[in-house]
Amino acid sequence: ETETENFVINDKAVKQIFKPRQEFSHKGTYGKVVIIGGSYGKMGAAVLSTKAALKTGAGLTFTLAPKCGYEILQTSNPEAMFLEGGTEFINHIEADDQAVYGAGPGLGTHEETVKTFLSFLKAHAKPLILDADALNMISQEPENIKLIPEGSVITPHPKEFERLFGATGNSFERVELAKTKAREHHLYIVLKDHRTQVVTPEGKVYYNVTGNSGLAKGGSGDILTGIITSFSAQNYTQEEAAILGVWFHGRAAEFASEKYSKESMLPTDVIHEFGRVFTELN
Ligand code: APR
Ligand code: MG
Repeated sequence: ETETENFVINDKAVKQIFKPRQEFSHKGTYGKVVIIGGSYGKMGAAVLSTKAALKTGAGLTFTLAPKCGYEILQTSNPEAMFLEGGTEFINHIEADDQAVYGAGPGLGTHEETVKTFLSFLKAHAKPLILDADALNMISQEPENIKLIPEGSVITPHPKEFERLFGATGNSFERVELAKTKAREHHLYIVLKDHRTQVVTPEGKVYYNVTGNSGLAKGGSGDILTGIITSFSAQNYTQEEAAILGVWFHGRAAEFASEKYSKESMLPTDVIHEFGRVFTELN
């Protein structure tokens, strides 16, 4: 039985983490992001994740996706570059040690993608951000969890968490299990929910209180992946990127609901409010 420290992610904490952009800087100062995602019929997830990385200040942003997404991605995100990883689904990943990877949105779980992705993980030592189908692929074999580089951030929703680590009776038990797993595998676990929690390898739990039910729509999680990956590629630690990321995502959703209502707001509208969140932070 270990002593926990519980924290609420409040404005003060977030302002302490946030680093204003330096005037004396260039795109290299703000990191290189590679979003690995998308497959036929789920390219939108890669579009949203990439757009969220672009709109949170990453210096250079790439999308590694199958060729069937080439025109979609270049048209919807002209500021991002395209890396081809297959035809209809990803079957090769060229690793770049300089980049910070955010993997999973819309990726699919084709068996060739599973092979490719798991061997990429095995060869990759740098912490990354894993979500959605990246987590679903890891869930296929219990030993796969050991392939995740230490210090990585994983962002499971309750079902993805259950696939990874097993069922729990309630959200309190889930946090306890997350603390055990975060410590054991040296991971930051972002337990996505109405009130998202960030669990650290040291057993700290950060509770996020921003956001609303307007986020309960397909695509909201994909945006969070892009945000956290972007902050991780900039000058934030993994812990800071996760904490600032969940707060930022929820705050943007609050601005979007003011403008469009919780019913009508779309993940794209949430991205359009990022500027207001930065204005508030600056
Ligand atoms: N209040 C506040 N925040 C919420 C609420 C709510 N009522 N509902 C959802 N959210 C937030 C969550 O905290 C999380 O950040 O929205 C996000 C939802 O993320 P996901 O559950 O991953 O949803 P989604 O974007 O649809 O994922 C896209 O990937 O994970 C797979 O199976 C999933 O196919 C789906 C795809
Ligand atoms: Mg998701």
